Formats: sequence, structure tokens, C-alpha cells
Amino acid sequence: MKSAEIREKFLKFFESKGHQIVASSSLVPHDDPTLLFTNAGMNQFKDVFLGFDKRPYVRATTSQKCVRAGGKHNDLENVGYTARHHTFFEMLGNFSFGDYFKRDAIAYAWELLTVVFKLPQERLWVTVYAEDDEAYDIWNKVVGVPAERIVRIGDNKGARYASDNFWMMGDTGPCGPCTEIFYDHGEHIPGGPPGSPDEDGDRYIEIWNNVFMQFNRDESGVMHPLPKPSVDTGMGLERITAVLQHVNSNYDIDLLANLVRAAARETSDADMTSPSLRVLADHIRACSFLIADGVIPGNEGRGYVLRRIIRRAIRHGYKLGARAAFFHRLVPDLVAEMGAAYPELVAGEKRVMDVLKQEEDRFFSTIEHGMAILEAELVEVGVKGVFNGETAFKLHDTYGFPLDLTADICRERGVTVDAAGFEAAMNRQKEQARAAGKFKMSAALDYSGAETVFHGYESLEVRATVLALYKDGVVASALNEGDAGTVVLDHTPFYAESGGQVGDRGILQSAQGIFAVEDTQKIQAAVFGHQGVLTTGSLKVGDALTAKVDTLARKRTMRNHSVTHLMHKALREVLGEHVQQKGSQVDPDKTRFDFVHNQPLTDDEIHRVEKIVNAEILENVECQHRVMPIAEAQKLGAMMLFGEKYGDEVRVIDIGSSRELCGGTHVRRTGDIGVFSIVAEGGVAAGVRRVEAITGDVALAYMQGMETALGGVAGTLKVQPSDVHARVYSILDQVRQLEREIALLKSKQVAGQGEALISGAVEVKGAKLVAAVLEDADVNALRMAVDKLRDRLKSAIVVLAATAGGKVTLIAGVTSDLTGKVKAGELVNFVAQQVGGKGGGRPDMAQAGGTEPEKLPAALAAVRAWVEQKL
Ligand code: ALA
Repeated sequence: MKSAEIREKFLKFFESKGHQIVASSSLVPHDDPTLLFTNAGMNQFKDVFLGFDKRPYVRATTSQKCVRAGGKHNDLENVGYTARHHTFFEMLGNFSFGDYFKRDAIAYAWELLTVVFKLPQERLWVTVYAEDDEAYDIWNKVVGVPAERIVRIGDNKGARYASDNFWMMGDTGPCGPCTEIFYDHGEHIPGGPPGSPDEDGDRYIEIWNNVFMQFNRDESGVMHPLPKPSVDTGMGLERITAVLQHVNSNYDIDLLANLVRAAARETSDADMTSPSLRVLADHIRACSFLIADGVIPGNEGRGYVLRRIIRRAIRHGYKLGARAAFFHRLVPDLVAEMGAAYPELVAGEKRVMDVLKQEEDRFFSTIEHGMAILEAELVEVGVKGVFNGETAFKLHDTYGFPLDLTADICRERGVTVDAAGFEAAMNRQKEQARAAGKFKMSAALDYSGAETVFHGYESLEVRATVLALYKDGVVASALNEGDAGTVVLDHTPFYAESGGQVGDRGILQSAQGIFAVEDTQKIQAAVFGHQGVLTTGSLKVGDALTAKVDTLARKRTMRNHSVTHLMHKALREVLGEHVQQKGSQVDPDKTRFDFVHNQPLTDDEIHRVEKIVNAEILENVECQHRVMPIAEAQKLGAMMLFGEKYGDEVRVIDIGSSRELCGGTHVRRTGDIGVFSIVAEGGVAAGVRRVEAITGDVALAYMQGMETALGGVAGTLKVQPSDVHARVYSILDQVRQLEREIALLKSKQVAGQGEALISGAVEVKGAKLVAAVLEDADVNALRMAVDKLRDRLKSAIVVLAATAGGKVTLIAGVTSDLTGKVKAGELVNFVAQQVGGKGGGRPDMAQAGGTEPEKLPAALAAVRAWVEQKL
């Protein structure tokens, strides 16, 4: 049975038992910043188990894409070296949300395995949680599994509930006791039954885990009973397929064996048992599915995990002899295997290939050097068997070798990497970069006083007292007129730069002085530094003052920030769910937004985004700002960014139909934004686009500027603005036509001159000589004229010149019967030297230039004597 059929049979079986077939969720859990990648079928149902979310069904079944590379579950290092570890795998599962429980779950599992899949009962073993007598009895008395093949497993991992038979999604969340089903691959394979000392062998393989979800574990480890006991199961498709296809290694099942073959084809490797081929077969799945789900290679978070997997794949390809991009060519093979079950793979095929190819080109440009350095260092390792941390860092920093890649290669040689040395080198470099980089004054200020209370969400002006002053980065008791410095206040309406929004500017006005704030930066998490210059009077610690934000600038910034949320949403709507924010900068002039997308936006796409956003602005709905625990925000479906550090309490901002977590300042109603226009679009890195957009009065001024410019052009052209395009088009047409005519006239003129030159040719010892200036000719015209003269005069020596812009161009030609005596190169050089230049070329045709056109007539006049001498 093919793996595709097994997947299908599983889903159909549970459908026949009243389960809804639900599509796999994305590998990127967009609404759960605690989870790196989707790693189990139940992830998408987490809130249903907890009772926060309701679905129109109480039974579901899925085939879920899972990645276990990086984060809590990480199998990356084992891939290729064991028969059953993968970065990417498919988990088949059935779920009950407060509907059936242990009895039915066990009965379904048994029926599927023994009746549908026809596995011999005596090969199946089961484990139950030691305290779960109920599950034990169902297996033993209801199903009839003999006691010697049921193993009770207790808390075997060192703490209460820490057990192979108690499943938890993470440190918190839904959990419960589980029962696992094992398949005995037979005596010929080493290994013992579950719970025995040699259970890790490959003989008894766990194929299916049935979890009885009963508790929600909180941060302090307390177990709260779930509203309704539920069922969550997971069976690795690759493992059950191995059993049904009678092979011991997952890599021998149809799906993966085809990918192993494709990897061998692309690397021309003949040794089909090479672990590197298995690594490639595994990694192409993880990489392609991750990219299809919107992850792109990068230097942090999910992007860095992806980059590490790709580079690990490239390194294995390199080991097999590949020296240029090859990995992306496995994508069509993968699509052929899995596209039918996962249409996103078909839709994303080209994009996935492009992204992989770019990443490959990049790494292939440094891998060779890196490998040479690595090999040289391996020689130095000696008996200690430890690879130098500094070199590992250099490989990382200069050659793009992630630490685990270096470690992987070292491991193959029995060498470990000095990770502490790597860390130290990395920290040292960060320090140096900080010291050398633009020194943000506030970052280094020494402060231990009270915090600043921020009022800037509701007001732009407050009374405040000076808590501390700094001049040249050190504490000062007072600032005098003209001093640049930083002011810390007890209260402030000034927003300090964060989340992409720039710091506010404005003034601090006391009875004695005025301080112009140019920027606001956080000195500490809740201490705001107002940076600027004391323009008038003096300012002391303890002074009372009024802090006033520059209202115009702040309002512009708020419009740009609020519109960023609307634009983010609209971009996802128009381009697709893979659009994820990669960075943003919001200031009074514009919003600049970077996001994942692999190709330039078309005019039509830009217009659609503008239309959607402006429609939301016209709705003029009130915006909502709410502070709530992060779990609640998650439940409300607020957009969160992975890798962003959120506190326990978060601000949820609703603007129009968008909902994001954000600490920035926003407009009251969408109508406050006025109008929105995208003014620039471009690429910033592989797979990342950037748009710039403007709003409100800035957009109005921009449009007026455009209108004035357009009006000016229309006036000059004497047409309506709407006809400018057509008019310019027809003018350009006319220009092209005129250019053609001029070229034609010129060539006629040159031809006419050619006739005159033929008749003016002089005879020198039987040969014809022409040495003349051709008016208005360029180098091509000269060359053509020389050719023509040689043809027509049969036995001839020709040198023609043209002048333009203070320069002389010369072409000489000699018919072949004469090149024995007169060489075109020498001739052209003879003339060129007299006009301040030089040149040369073949005996029959040569070219030169000069810079003294005034000397040209004399030089041409001298040619005859020179030629006479030669002939
Ligand atoms: N959620 C369970 C697992 O991942 C089924 O093993």
C-alpha cells in the first residue's frame, strides 16, 4: 500500500466513524508566539481542548504537517543517522472534544490496525500509564490483548507526571495519560520491548500514541481538570507506512525512497546507502513546506532554523560532490509525491524553488573557503579532540557556517566543538560592534531613580519634574543655554522609540528655560530619556516644567502607524497569508513596511491594497485599545509576531478590521488617517519586499505636488492632464521617426561624399590614395565609407577622419594586394601621432583617435609622401 493510500485510508476510516476531516494547519502557528513550529496534530485544537474555542464538530481527524527542528522538540541532529527521525513528518490523528473517551479511542485504534490494515495481533504491544487501570482493563478485558504484551509505565522521567506515558504539549497547556501502541519488527532486529533496558533498539517501534486529555497544566505546575475529557492521538505516517510496506527504515518507504533517488540523481551519487542522501530527502521536505508556509531563510527565529536546515542540506550535497545549486531541483520530485495531499506545495512550487536557489547560490559562494578552513583546523585538533571555538565563530561570521553545521561535520570525525569559546568570540564581536557603532546616548546613561509615567496615549502635554540631567553622557545638575543633553522626567507625554515607531519630539518649557526635544529613547524599560538642546535659559534637576509633544509630527506618526496595521491586513488579503511583517519604521513622514513576499507587487496589487485601506478609512470606525493577559489576546486572534518579546499583559489594538498586539500610539477613528497612498515598492533581501506609504496632509501635499507637476507638463504640451500620456507617447513616436530620418539623411550624405572621394582619389605608384575628412560621420559611417572605397577602388589606400567635440576619429583601410607594403595600422598611427593620439589594428583595417583636430589637415596632407616612400 502506498503512503498516499495509507493517509487516505486513515482519514476515511475516521470519517466513517463520524469524524470531520480537517485540513492540516500551517507549520507556522501565527497566533501562538510560544510555539516555534507546529509539532503535533493537536496544536490547532489546543483552545478547543481548553474549552476556549468551539467547533461545529466534536470529532475530527487530520493528517498534520509537523516540524521538529529547533525549539522544544529537536530531531535535526539525528536525521540521516537513524531509521526513524525526521525534521518534517506527517502525523495522522483522531480527536474527540468531550465526546468519546478511552473505550472508543482504544477500540477505533485496534480496529484500524488489525481489521483495516490487517496487522497480526501478536505483533502489537501496548503501554499504559501505570496508574491508569481503566485503560489497562480495556486493553486486557475488552480488546483481549494478553497481559504479557501490556506494559505499565510510571513516572520514569524523574518527576510527578514526567513519564513516557503522560503527554504534555509543553510546560503548560492540555495534557493527560496516554497509551502507546508498538509494532514488533521481529527477532532479527536488535531491541527490547517498551520498558525494558534495551527498549531503544529498532525492534519494537512506537507507532501510535493515544492521549487522554484530562488536565490543563498551569505555570506553577498545578493540574486543573479540563471541562470535558477528550482524546488526542498521533501516528507517524512514515512509521506506519514502514510497517505496512515491510521495511525497517522510514527512508525505504515509497515516498522517501523516491526522494532519496532524486537526491542521488541531482548529486550524481552512486552509493544509495549514503546517509547524506537520506538527509537530503528529509530536508527537502522540511525546507519546502516551511517556505510554502511563509518562512524565509534569515538570521533569527524561524528563518534561522530554516537557514540551518538548508545549509546542512547543502553541506551534505557538497560532501557528495555538488559544487553549485542543486537542492532546489528536488522540489518538483517532492511536489510529485505530496502535492496532491498538500495543494499549497503545488501553488508555491516556483516560489519555493526560487527561495532555495537564492539561498544555495549564496552559501555555495562561501562554502569552499569555509570547508578549507575547517579542514585545516581539524588537522590542528590533535588528541584533545576539541575544535577551536574562535575558528568555529569565524566560520559562522565570515563563511555562513551555523555552529551546528560545524558541529555536525566535527561529529563525523569524532571531534567536539568548543561551544564556550564560540560564545565568547561572538560576545566579543558584539561588544566591539556596540562600541564602534552609532552610540545612542541614552543606552549608556547611568540611572537609578524613579520610573517615568507615560501619558502619551491620552495626552500630548503634561506637567512634570526633572528627575535627572545628562551632558556628554554623564550626570549633570544643570544644563545651560546651548548645551546638548538628555532629560529624565517623572511624567511624560513623549513616546520613546519602540516597535518601529520613532521617538517623539517637542519642547520642555520651564519658567527658566526651553529644552527642544529632538528624540525620545528609553534609558531603561520604563525610564524615558528626552534628547535635545537647551535653546534658552537654564534647566536644573528638580525644576517643574510643561512637556509638550510636537502635535503635528505626532499626529502624522499616529496616522502612519495606524495605517500600517490596515496595510498589513490588506497585503495579506491581496497577496496571501504568507505575508508576514519583517520590520517597520513609522515616523511623521511615512511608514516603511518590510514583509515576506517573493516578487515585486504589480500596479494592480498596489491599487487593490490602496483601495481596501482607503475603504476602511472611509468607514471611520472607532479604534479600540485594550490591555489584557496574553492568553486572552491569543484567543481573540490578535496578530502576533514570532520572536517578539511580549509581556504577560499586552495591548490589543483594533483598527478597522485589523487586530494586532502593539504598544504604539494610534488614531481615534480610522477617518483620522485621511487618505492613504503607497509611494514606493522594492526588494530589500531575498524574499523580502518593502513598501513605503504616506497618509493625511503629507499624502495631500504629495498629490498636490504631483498634480502641479502634471499640470505644468500638460500646459506646456497644451493638452488636458488626462491626455498627457497619449501626447507624450505620440511625441516620443515622432522623435523616433525623426531620428530615423536623420540617420537616413546622414548616410546619404556620407554616401554622396564617398562619390566625391572616389573621383578625388590620387594615383601613387599605381595605387589609389584617399586621405580626407568626412563631414558629420561617426565611427560606423567612417568604417562603412572606408569599406566602400576599398571595394570601388580595387587597389587602394584609404584614411578617413572625422572630428566632433574636440576629438578626432581615424579609420584606415588598405586593399589586400597592398598590405605587404602599406599596413593600415602603421598608416593610422602615422596620422594619429600628429594629432595627439595613437592607435593601431590589422594590416587591412585599423582605427585611432586624437585630440588635436586643428592639426588634422597637415597630417592628412603628409600621407601622400609617407605612402610613396612605402610603395
Ligand atoms: N499529541 C500526541 C503526540 O504528539 C498524540 O504524541
